[in-house]
Amino acid sequence: MRTPFRSKIAGIGSYLPKKILSNSDLEKMVETNDQWIRERTGIERRHLAAEGEYTSDLCLHATERALQDAKMNSSDLDLILIATSTPDQVMPNTATVLQHKLGISGIPCLDVSAACSGFVYALSVADQFIRTGTYKNILIVGAEILHRMVNYKDRETCILFGDGAGAWIMTQTDFDSPDGLFSTHLRANGEVGDLFILPAGGSKIPYSQEVLDKGQHYVMMKGREIFRHAVRTMTECCQLALKSNSIQSEQVDWVVPHQANVRILDSVAEHFGIPKEKVIVSLRETGNTSAASIPLAFDMGVREGKIKRGQMILIAAFGAGLTSGSALMRY
Ligand code: UT7
Repeated sequence: MRTPFRSKIAGIGSYLPKKILSNSDLEKMVETNDQWIRERTGIERRHLAAEGEYTSDLCLHATERALQDAKMNSSDLDLILIATSTPDQVMPNTATVLQHKLGISGIPCLDVSAACSGFVYALSVADQFIRTGTYKNILIVGAEILHRMVNYKDRETCILFGDGAGAWIMTQTDFDSPDGLFSTHLRANGEVGDLFILPAGGSKIPYSQEVLDKGQHYVMMKGREIFRHAVRTMTECCQLALKSNSIQSEQVDWVVPHQANVRILDSVAEHFGIPKEKVIVSLRETGNTSAASIPLAFDMGVREGKIKRGQMILIAAFGAGLTSGSALMRY
């Protein structure tokens, strides 16, 4: 829809908990080794939330940094969106908890559930509200405490996931302004939704002793099949973003993809025809942080002096569902 507005990033911030779980720590917990993890995933360590630290706390730290970067106060916000699969609790949503921790009240608060694609989904929701002129300043946070949903006896999943949060403040700009978000594309393929699940805790399998005995409160994943889907859907989403904006891959300065496995990122770069050096990789430090991974990688890219204002950025995500999405913007 063509309106007088588009959205752009006013500020960014991220937060990683202090505690670190290294590959050598994992060697003591399951039958694995540092070399296998590095070679098959690219991950070296992950950060884990401390006892008593919740998803909303990670959100708060990342948000405070994003507000500072945007030179705004929490009272300037019109809407809070949190992308997460690991909310503080099922109800109320974590966005309302964050609102309270920010010391504000009244504005709408919504959790977006699209697993590792959640941040791109939330970005798209924010963009629609800004384009229509409904809201001016929107906080989106991708945040997870995944280590509490992981079985540390399952070597295929426990080596992958970490905790963290990344926040963006999106604000309104003129449609004709040279910077801002040009497009978002969202997709989902529910027919392969069983490849990556957290079975218990919903209306289908409420918590019980049997759930705990069977370990249904942990994530379960068919990794090799997800890998195949991830490469194909992320490549397609990237191509869709460029085609709909009549842009060539050479015009993209940085690709900021969901950080699941460095081999997935290399493969996407190859299929998409973009040098590996143009892909931001943060998973060495963070592991897979699901909905937090894109804003964490983006923030790291900015802090390392790679991503600069005015550059063309392509964002690509995929996750459980299987959901996927992309976004193209000039930062
Ligand atoms: O955010 C979205 C969610 N998830 C993903 O994106 C995950 C996508 N998938 C992956 O990243 C990869 O499939 C994994 C990292 C999960 C697994 O790597 P892979 O190269 O696909 O390994 P594989 O499943 O084909 O297993 C190869 C071998 C197997 O042994 P055998 O059968 O060949 O003897 C596994 O049992 O590696 C073994 N293996 C391990 N060995 C040491 C599996 N996990 C481990 C481990 N340490 N942690």
